[in-house]
Amino acid sequence: MNGRTTAAALHLEGLRKTFRTARGERAAVDGVTATVPAGSFVSVVGPSGCGKSTLLEVVAGLVRPDAGRVLVGDRDVTRRPGACAYMPQEDLLFAWRTVLQNAALGLEVRGVPAREARRRAAELVGPFGLAGFEDARPDELSGGMRQRAALLRTVVQGPGVLLLDEPFGALDALTRLRMQGWLHGMWRQFGWTVLLVTHDVREAVLLSDRVLVLGPRPARVVHDETVDLPHPRDAATRCAALEARLLDRLGGTTGAVPGDTDRAPTTSTRPRRATGPAAAMHRTDRGPRGEDEGRHHGGPEREAT
Ligand SMILES: Nc1ncnc2c1ncn2[C@@H]1O[C@H](COP(=O)(O)OP(=O)(O)O)[C@@H](O)[C@H]1O
Ligand SMILES: [Mg+2]
Repeated sequence: MNGRTTAAALHLEGLRKTFRTARGERAAVDGVTATVPAGSFVSVVGPSGCGKSTLLEVVAGLVRPDAGRVLVGDRDVTRRPGACAYMPQEDLLFAWRTVLQNAALGLEVRGVPAREARRRAAELVGPFGLAGFEDARPDELSGGMRQRAALLRTVVQGPGVLLLDEPFGALDALTRLRMQGWLHGMWRQFGWTVLLVTHDVREAVLLSDRVLVLGPRPARVVHDETVDLPHPRDAATRCAALEARLLDRLGGTTGAVPGDTDRAPTTSTRPRRATGPAAAMHRTDRGPRGEDEGRHHGGPEREAT
């Protein structure tokens, strides 16, 4: 892959997933239907524990849904890993492999000879801001570079449909802002179809054509917002009203207290206001702008799910 992809649309049709555990059944995804038009950027926002990662794993073909289908274009790819390029919540770079070896790994797993896989990965090292670090090990990289290496490994595999699970969730606020701008530029350049999962409303507004809001577990779409704002989007001014609206929706649909990710929704009559998890999300996502890349850290805001 060396340039723009011909990205197809992604369709989620009535996806459901319930986990059967020793402690009983746990519904994680409850009837999610959505379309990501070809070449568009759609974000899914929802509180921690609501089922975002499970939804993305189902779309990636890694978790078998109890019901529903996933289509790329008109091709049914339900339970077929590899139809979409998937980047899990943890970057999962192997410490003993260099950047280039890590980047090539996904292709090698698919049967591409190592030499060819590395050649293809090397083509993207420049655009991904990793030139000169081909032979570096992951622990020599900043947090932003690690995420770019993980994303490189994801996109080099070819499918123009990208599934990104909180790709910047473990980064400090400064690095996150830079990476969001970088991802937006790459999306424009490569023409991917992107489904991004995040608990960061600001990230969703900055990057997306559309934002789907999930309620508390089990995940279902409670709101669908088209983001019709020009780029670049200045978060502090232009996006504030839209963020407030999305937070309001989240506040009105979230029945649990912050951090209590496994509680069932308590009431549907809860007043709509920006408190609870929605407000907590909002707070954690504010930070000064800057240019420095912070080191990767697994601080307390990193989700365990
Ligand atoms: N493999 C699994 N077995 C049982 N429960 C699971 C499994 N994976 C996720 N869950 C549960 O499903 C719910 C949703 O988790 P997850 O999709 O990780 O949420 P999110 O990504 O929104 O934080 C949580 O209650 C979690 O404990
Ligand atoms: Mg998650």
